[in-house]
Amino acid sequence: MEFKNETEKQKYYMKQCRSLVQAKEHKLGRKLTACVVTFGCQMNFKDSEKLIGILDEIGYVQTVDEHADLVLYNTCTVRENANLKIYGRLGYLHKIKEKNPDMLIGLCGCMMQEKHVVDKLNKSYRFIDLIFGTHNVFALAELLYERLLTGHKVESIWDGTTEIVEDLPSIQKYDFKCGVNIMYGCNNFCTYCIVPYVRGRERSREPEEIIKEIETLAQNGVVEVMLLGQNVNSYGKTLEHPISFAELLRRVEQVEGIKRIRFMTSHPKDLSDELIEVMAESEKICKQMHLPLQSGSSRLLEKMNRHYTKEDYLEIVRKLRKAIPDIGITTDIIVGFPGETEEDFKETLDVIEKVQYDSAFTFIYSKRSGTPAAEMENQVPEDVVKERFNRLLALVNDISQKKTAVLEGTTQPVMVEEVNGKIEGYMTGRLSNNAVVHFPGCQSMIGKIVQVHLKEAKGFYYMGEMVD
Ligand code: 5AD
Ligand code: SF4
Repeated sequence: MEFKNETEKQKYYMKQCRSLVQAKEHKLGRKLTACVVTFGCQMNFKDSEKLIGILDEIGYVQTVDEHADLVLYNTCTVRENANLKIYGRLGYLHKIKEKNPDMLIGLCGCMMQEKHVVDKLNKSYRFIDLIFGTHNVFALAELLYERLLTGHKVESIWDGTTEIVEDLPSIQKYDFKCGVNIMYGCNNFCTYCIVPYVRGRERSREPEEIIKEIETLAQNGVVEVMLLGQNVNSYGKTLEHPISFAELLRRVEQVEGIKRIRFMTSHPKDLSDELIEVMAESEKICKQMHLPLQSGSSRLLEKMNRHYTKEDYLEIVRKLRKAIPDIGITTDIIVGFPGETEEDFKETLDVIEKVQYDSAFTFIYSKRSGTPAAEMENQVPEDVVKERFNRLLALVNDISQKKTAVLEGTTQPVMVEEVNGKIEGYMTGRLSNNAVVHFPGCQSMIGKIVQVHLKEAKGFYYMGEMVD
């Protein structure tokens, strides 16, 4: 078959799968169900929306129950724990499949890009039906068709790609907000990180494509977009007609109907003054910056290949706070990178004290095979890392509680996000700085920005009341 482009090809395979699924429905006298489980970051969640969109088109009814006709795990491998979690859950899935031999099990995502993982799956987890990676998520229908037709396991992992496939179906988790990929992959090669190996080289989408997608989303009721990339600050540099991330934000701001714009993740080395300026002037860009620090020690930052020093980082924070005084700043920190001394660790604590983060994701260094850091000497003993990790956590929590208390008693614009699952009659929403507030309200308010009086700061969130 000849196809005009990849999108057309995949749409053809969706139709083919649909016929096979319909035949099966007929035989069973019921609809087929599919359960997509996502591990990892926002990128993976976005990919899962695409996977669910394709499965929906094929005719599968989505379920959260893993007793489904098709279960697809979209995996993460950023830390060893993420991998262990998958192996554990596969054991559980196997038991379900033993009772229902017609069940299909698929694995995709970052973990599948590692050869040793796929080897292990092929050897010890032979009940898996479908394996594919991060570069060919869009090809789910084609791969599933092959599996349905042949009855044989299908494995398709690409080493990389230059292709960006647009215009395939996607089903959003929320009606009012949506992630939008602005770029794929990563070129930074931080020495601890496996992402560049599993997500490939950096590729930016054309700004026109991004704006077109956001306009369509806005027409369908989306009011908040999260622009996604591993390093959004280097967006557009490699395009034929280069454009800066700040310029892209200016264009997104023009899209009618969009009320809030967020983005992640920023790399400090590429954060420009132009970006700070655009954020300060903007009505729609949220006052929030996720700015991974990783370590406060310039010596370790160099070994991590981060391309900034402690002082550079603090200077960016100073500029951000000067231009946008009420900005919420959050971060990622790794404890126990090879060779980390008590002095290095104290530098990290020092930055935390100085920056006063609204919140911080703290991670214990995890050795990822194939990365330069995995080969480094002086891996820090586990007990030392644990002890440092606990001190780090105590400081981070203490500061974020204090930071949350600062807005207590004020009234803030809040995007109403969802019905509160715990307190009857309550809704949950977010401030511009990404903090969460619970307050009495009703479902019809979802997707609207309302004024909420923050009555009480409760550690990391608020209890509030709407004001008219
Ligand atoms: N070990 C621990 N944390 C890691 N991260 C990335 N790689 C590793 C690793 N090998 C953390 C970084 C990154 C976040 C997404 O995960 O802090 O910013
Ligand atoms: Fe996201 Fe990285 Fe995990 Fe992949 S490995 S899901 S890119 S955090």
